[in-house]
Amino acid sequence: MVTILTGGQWGDEGKGKIISYLCLNDNPDIIARAGVGPNAGHTVVYKGKKYPLRLTPSGFLNKHARLLIGAGVLVNPDVILGEIKSLGIENRIGIDKRAGIIEQDHIERDKKSDHLATTIGSTGTGCGPANIDRANRSLKLAADIESLKPYLTDVPLEMNEAINAGKNVFIEGSQGFGLSLFYGTYPFVTSKDTNAGMACVDLGIGPRKVKEVIVVFKSFPSRVGEGPFPTLMSEAEAQRRGIQEFGTVTGRARRSGTFDFELAKYSAMVNSASQIALTCVDYFDRSYAGVREYDKLSPKMREFVEKVEREVDVPVTIISTGPDLEDTIDLREEKL
Ligand code: GTP
Ligand code: IMP
Ligand code: MG
Repeated sequence: MVTILTGGQWGDEGKGKIISYLCLNDNPDIIARAGVGPNAGHTVVYKGKKYPLRLTPSGFLNKHARLLIGAGVLVNPDVILGEIKSLGIENRIGIDKRAGIIEQDHIERDKKSDHLATTIGSTGTGCGPANIDRANRSLKLAADIESLKPYLTDVPLEMNEAINAGKNVFIEGSQGFGLSLFYGTYPFVTSKDTNAGMACVDLGIGPRKVKEVIVVFKSFPSRVGEGPFPTLMSEAEAQRRGIQEFGTVTGRARRSGTFDFELAKYSAMVNSASQIALTCVDYFDRSYAGVREYDKLSPKMREFVEKVEREVDVPVTIISTGPDLEDTIDLREEKL
């Protein structure tokens, strides 16, 4: 069975947290990373330890799963080799031989370009310029890089063989709907589509193989970088609520806002969402922090969850009440 998880807003919805929870609980055979590249910063917190990840699949805490990175994902060799070493995943990670490579020159072009660095507010990780070179057909691929040789594989072949053998495959996207090159708030977007269909392409599987699509929404969405934010709240309000966040990759302050039902509905439609994971409900009221049972949420909080379900017309199956992967309410048994 194949499950895809994507972001429904402007990234940083807490995908890393939800992915790690699901991968520890559901025990997939393969956990595969789709999405743009190391512009992402996923945060996984488990038993008090924090793992900031940029390329490694966020489900890595499951020690039995094979970890894969698709051809559609840009790879910075320094970043992935650093993560492989520090996480000790040498024996179970595979990178598609056709993944595009980010070099120092891409990072410099990203940072020096007034258009990318200032107008768009890119992460400066070289992803935009590397995708420009890929479209120009001049980008190096993983197969050209000596230090990546031990990890190279054919990801579509591994994925499709596993799926056909009835194994469980979990696919994680990065960024979010609002940053899609095609459907987001262009030009204030990333350099590729970020939705579930693209995740299939990134990893070389067809859409007929996918069973579930989980879209992650943050109760108070955030946005880092430039671009419109219709439900933006003032900085003073974000501070009053104590929900001010800073980017994992760039350290920049994230803008915060209230839940945008229109955006959620449209992004669930484009992703063909079958489930919603709702994160950061503790931002409403700190007394919800760490709650693990639905009945322990207040009636007002449950009303919000039900409104999300009703407006988006997709069941909310996972609710996150804190950064630790155990701070989770799992409603899948009753909702699916
Ligand atoms: P990208 O791939 O970069 O889009 O990131 P992401 O979706 O994995 O999210 P990221 O880890 O960048 O940001 C989410 C932040 O919220 C992290 O600091 C998480 O630890 C934290 N977080 C996740 N879920 C919850 C939650 O339910 N409550 C609280 N308080 N924090 C949460
Ligand atoms: P780029 O992907 O680095 O070119 O950045 C383009 C836009 O997408 C900027 O507004 C970034 O802040 C935003 N962005 C890219 N990746 C992420 C992410 O993982 N989380 C949140 N915003 C992102
Ligand atoms: Mg992030």
